[in-house]
Amino acid sequence: MRSTLATRLIHNLTHRIRFPAGPPPNSFRLEKLNPKPYTFEELPDRPVFIAREDLQVGKGRWSQVYRGSLQSVSTKYDGTSFSDSKETQDVVLKVFKQSLFPGQIYFFNRHKRCREKGISPWWNQSTEEHMCWSEAFSYLTLASLQGESIPKFIDAYMVKSPDSDEESMAIAMSHVAGRSIFQVCQELGADNDPDPGLWYPIAMEMLRTAHLMRQKGIIARDLRDVNILVDENHSKESPSKYSLKIIDFATAEPSKYVLGDDGKAVFDEILDVVMMEVLIAKICGNEQEHPVGWDLDGPTRRRSEFLKWLKKNYGDEQFVKDYWFSLEKCVYDDYCYEPSRGPDYRNYFPGHL
Ligand SMILES: Nc1ncnc2c1ncn2[C@@H]1O[C@H](COP(=O)(O)OP(=O)(O)O)[C@@H](O)[C@H]1O
Ligand SMILES: [Mg+2]
Repeated sequence: MRSTLATRLIHNLTHRIRFPAGPPPNSFRLEKLNPKPYTFEELPDRPVFIAREDLQVGKGRWSQVYRGSLQSVSTKYDGTSFSDSKETQDVVLKVFKQSLFPGQIYFFNRHKRCREKGISPWWNQSTEEHMCWSEAFSYLTLASLQGESIPKFIDAYMVKSPDSDEESMAIAMSHVAGRSIFQVCQELGADNDPDPGLWYPIAMEMLRTAHLMRQKGIIARDLRDVNILVDENHSKESPSKYSLKIIDFATAEPSKYVLGDDGKAVFDEILDVVMMEVLIAKICGNEQEHPVGWDLDGPTRRRSEFLKWLKKNYGDEQFVKDYWFSLEKCVYDDYCYEPSRGPDYRNYFPGHL
């Protein structure tokens, strides 16, 4: 377990944040809200969070994420005397600490630095109140998925930093077991031929889950490998050996799910499906360095084979019907099966593959 001094310090949860019922006002994402449409509520049970493990910490991050215990002391009166009872929960605390947000420099070097650090490169600064409010709103809207395909949401708080007086917005949620979808699928051979398709059910589940969120009114707009966790040891009740959870709703937005006359959804934004197409290509190996002679067509061919399998086996399900208009652009038959024997042209056109 990774552990730094910071993780061992205590975060005081000073207030609970009460956001209005709707989503944050999107047009003002880059500005602080004035006047504040949310309120703060006193916390009589004096909760503290004791960090045990860093999940994501350091400068140039939109959030500092720790796993640890949330402890609160409540005083009860049994008619004759007062007694304190202590409750402890294993949680993840995601703190939107403004002093550590990425500066402009991250966006000038966006492709390289952001990718290396796993930071969303295509959205500009957002404020802590917008990110925190988006998370709280999304978790509430997706209440029926909590504990199933997303973490369980506990609450939004104001949190005092252990190493300074800075107070930040934060959310607490359940911890989700698992590793990134990219790691798990690649270990199952997604970037190699012959590809027996062991990773197919996982990618299918990702598409189905993102679509379910759509149906419930949320578009997940940051569907990158770091935000999709797969737990391989989940075999008890689940019919599948893998359990997949989507996290990180800091940039999620409300989205109306409307069916057209043809029985397919009418989408005004398709960022979720496009991001998943890109992610599947990455899972299939299109971002990896390969020696000359590598079958350059391999990643897109393996993605195409997966999509054919998806259409054949799940074509009747609504998520495939709704997403197919976009997914089908990634399906093709004119494969070049032979590994390329010529020079590695990626050296001439860096960044193209
Ligand atoms: N509930 C959770 N359970 C397990 N790991 C988590 C959880 N929430 C966040 N993480 C870990 O912390 C990382 C950063 O969290 P995330 O919510 O994606 O923050 P950011 O908005 O800064 O990307 C994730 O990629 C994941 O590894
Ligand atoms: Mg993230």
